[in-house]
Amino acid sequence: MNTRRRNFIRATGLTGLGLAGGGLLHGGEPRAGDQDREDTARVGKQLEKAHVQRFNMSGYAAPPLERVRIAIIGLGQRGPAHMAIMSQIEGTEIRALCDIRPENADAAKRKLAGTAHNPDVLTGPEDWKRVCERDDIDLVMITTPWYMHAAMAVYAMEQGKHAASEVPAAGTIEECWQLVETAERTRKHCMMMENNSYLPFQAMTLNMARQGFFGEVVHADCAYNASKLQNNFSRNLYWDMWWLRQYASRRGNIYPTHGLGPVSQIMNINRGDRFDFLVSVESADFMMRAKAQELAAADEFFKPFATKTYRGNMNVTTIRTSRGRTIMLQHDATSPSPHSLYHGIYGTKGAALYDPPPPRLSVGNQAWVSPEEFQSLQEKYTPEIIRRMGELARRMKAGHGGTDLLEDWRLIDCLRNGLPLDQDVYDAAAWSAIVPLSEWSVLNRSNPIDVPDFTAGAWRTNRPNMDINLERGGNTKVGV
Ligand SMILES: NC(=O)c1ccc[n+]([C@@H]2O[C@H](COP(=O)([O-])OP(=O)(O)OC[C@H]3O[C@@H](n4cnc5c(N)ncnc54)[C@H](O)[C@@H]3O)[C@@H](O)[C@H]2O)c1
Repeated sequence: MNTRRRNFIRATGLTGLGLAGGGLLHGGEPRAGDQDREDTARVGKQLEKAHVQRFNMSGYAAPPLERVRIAIIGLGQRGPAHMAIMSQIEGTEIRALCDIRPENADAAKRKLAGTAHNPDVLTGPEDWKRVCERDDIDLVMITTPWYMHAAMAVYAMEQGKHAASEVPAAGTIEECWQLVETAERTRKHCMMMENNSYLPFQAMTLNMARQGFFGEVVHADCAYNASKLQNNFSRNLYWDMWWLRQYASRRGNIYPTHGLGPVSQIMNINRGDRFDFLVSVESADFMMRAKAQELAAADEFFKPFATKTYRGNMNVTTIRTSRGRTIMLQHDATSPSPHSLYHGIYGTKGAALYDPPPPRLSVGNQAWVSPEEFQSLQEKYTPEIIRRMGELARRMKAGHGGTDLLEDWRLIDCLRNGLPLDQDVYDAAAWSAIVPLSEWSVLNRSNPIDVPDFTAGAWRTNRPNMDINLERGGNTKVGV
């Protein structure tokens, strides 16, 4: 194998279909930059052709579970947030909490005092495996740093558990394929918990798209732009400053799914269309190294960070779909601009735009509708899931605008009723694949790269399965 080919493979994880097994909890070293794009196209196509779908997990419904016995791995910020919600949903039992920091796992357990939940606490470095191996668990929730998600989800499914992973679900193409292959072989759900799909405007525009409001959706804009400079340089906010280490070791869009998830559902990606190829352009880093150097001048601790090369501050990735539609996806985690979840939908008959506020709609007449008309369209198109659960989520002050409650409730309701989940393993793989593919493109002067078809052609006939109007299920209570 030539050097350039090896470098390419290392950069993107496109090492073929073999399962590497567990223990892939790598943090990521700086990626090589001189890959050969002919190799890229070839390897990408080989991956696509080589995969034979064992079983189509799109629309798959597992046997119903009366009780859903849950383990949570990773109790930093996100784990306890899911735990607090899950503990109040009917039919759940939180059986195990696992974190390598005992103080975190213990603190989480204390929050359950006085509830019906009495989980075991596991804190060894390999205890996440012990958790997956237990026979009293149905669902493993994975809320560790994202570069650990795939190895943990694969192991959980191997042990006969459904896996629900935080975002993104994988950091390399090889991991994406591992998720797909393992889910198809074990017939266990692998859901990546993309909560932005449950934002009221995002869910409403999905409902509108399904009812033809936009006509043919031609293009979507989306983003996760949030000023995280202070957070990333905090010494104790994230375990081992893992986010900063990712920004110092990867390129490309390393947090694509908040923006991409909702627009992918609107465009029926993996269900009538698919990502075909992408190009990714990245700015230089104007802020992170400067910040590291400023901190290092006053504090020895930051010296190692002052010499690193950081991911560019703004990444812009453009995806073309097989049906010839386009998506513009941004990620900026440094500039001090207001938080933006840009969500623009542009169709042949109408348009929508969320962020910067106020959310707007247009009915094909080149102007945004008046606030009154917006309200009446909102009345007409708000889907049942938001009508039924939105107010409760607000009252419970569930995180991220109530979306955390909606995603957890839907997951449990679907598992209890034996229904397909709103996001399946092909979504997890395709949305997460943007991480390594955008990285490759950035490292190769923004050349295009194919996106593997994780559905192995089934996208042509797969049906949309996010049931935003709660046609089935919906009977699981909250606040128990
Ligand atoms: N969906 C959202 O809105 C949203 C918001 C924030 C974070 N996230 C995602 O959630 C995940 C967790 O983020 P966070 O902010 O909670 O990070 P965090 O650093 O606060 O928490 C991670 C936890 O994982 C633990 N951990 C590390 N290695 C472990 C191992 N081998 N076994 C068990 N535990 C281990 C750490 O001790 C830490 O407590 C990330 O992937 C992030 O992308 C999603």
